[in-house]
Amino acid sequence: MTAVVGPNGGGKSTLIKLIAGLFDPSDGKIKRHGLEPSDIAYLAQRTEIDRTFPIKVEDVVAMGLWPKVTSSTRYTKNHHHDVQDILDKVGLSGMGRRSIAQLSGGQLQRLFFGRVMAQDAKLILLDEPFAGIDQPTVSHLIGLIQAWHKSGKTVVAVLHDINLVRALFPETILIARSLIASGLTDQVLTPENLTKAAFNV
Ligand SMILES: Nc1ncnc2c1ncn2[C@@H]1O[C@H](COP(=O)(O)OP(=O)(O)O)[C@@H](O)[C@H]1O
Ligand SMILES: [Mg+2]
Repeated sequence: MTAVVGPNGGGKSTLIKLIAGLFDPSDGKIKRHGLEPSDIAYLAQRTEIDRTFPIKVEDVVAMGLWPKVTSSTRYTKNHHHDVQDILDKVGLSGMGRRSIAQLSGGQLQRLFFGRVMAQDAKLILLDEPFAGIDQPTVSHLIGLIQAWHKSGKTVVAVLHDINLVRALFPETILIARSLIASGLTDQVLTPENLTKAAFNV
């Protein structure tokens, strides 16, 4: 569990996208240590997601399963069962047939966590997953992240809530256009480093 922290425009989303392989760095190198694109799940910052796209809730989760649907180009009963199981886990039971336009912000974020779960990736990248999300949903999603971590997955999340980072993320990367500090959260989020990053909390 690694948090990415820093001021607006500091390059947090850029770093996450580079790790996800959405584009190549103009300088430097990204080493993924053998991870394939299918080993990485990426959840974009909310402002970058178009929620007017006409798609059903269960189809969004099914998209996450797609790389596993190898033997045929159709979803089987098992896949359908997996989708319903995931919707239960994210707290969207019975909402599979709704259009995503009908969901609240919190429900939509639960859904995107469901898609991440369906991908079953080794590395999960989350860009500000709790920004503008209601507290009950945040608590639920934190529970899911902890379960992923327990099952052996690596989670890297851009977060603004320093208290949450201190409570849940043992390691932190602090960036403000360039790297300020990285390592154990308590040693990274010092008053000196936060001042250096011009990050007022
Ligand atoms: N190290 C960097 N090198 C080049 N451009 C950067 C760097 N860090 C940030 N940027 C640019 O700054 C802008 C904001 O970065 P972004 O990653 O969205 O910041 P954040 O997510 O921290 O608010 C983007 O246009 C990005 O291309
Ligand atoms: Mg960002």
